[in-house]
Amino acid sequence: MSDGPRLVYVCEGGDCSEKGSVELFEELKDALKREDPSTAIRVRKYPCFGGCAHGINVVVYPDRCFYSQVKKSDIPAIVDSLTGKGPKLDRLSGKVEKDVEQITFDLLTTGF
Ligand code: FES
Repeated sequence: MSDGPRLVYVCEGGDCSEKGSVELFEELKDALKREDPSTAIRVRKYPCFGGCAHGINVVVYPDRCFYSQVKKSDIPAIVDSLTGKGPKLDRLSGKVEKDVEQITFDLLTTGF
């Protein structure tokens, strides 16, 4: 586990951005700020996780949450899970191949 801030990565690769990931990034960032104006959680863009067929993909680090097929309507539940008001979202998890998840978590852990 890292001692750094919690990070939420939203894929901005071609497939995910075609599905609206750029707007989702902005809305998630805004929703998190509205919920907790002093939040230490950072929302960042990510070039591509390699799970393109399952986009929009959103990864929470160091929590090791790999969310797929994320839609704008999932934002409130994601914000709740980030702020401790709700559980991790199992319904969005486990859709990409395990090695795609593992490579992503390894890259985020070691830096890239
Ligand atoms: S385009 Fe989002 S995972 Fe590749």
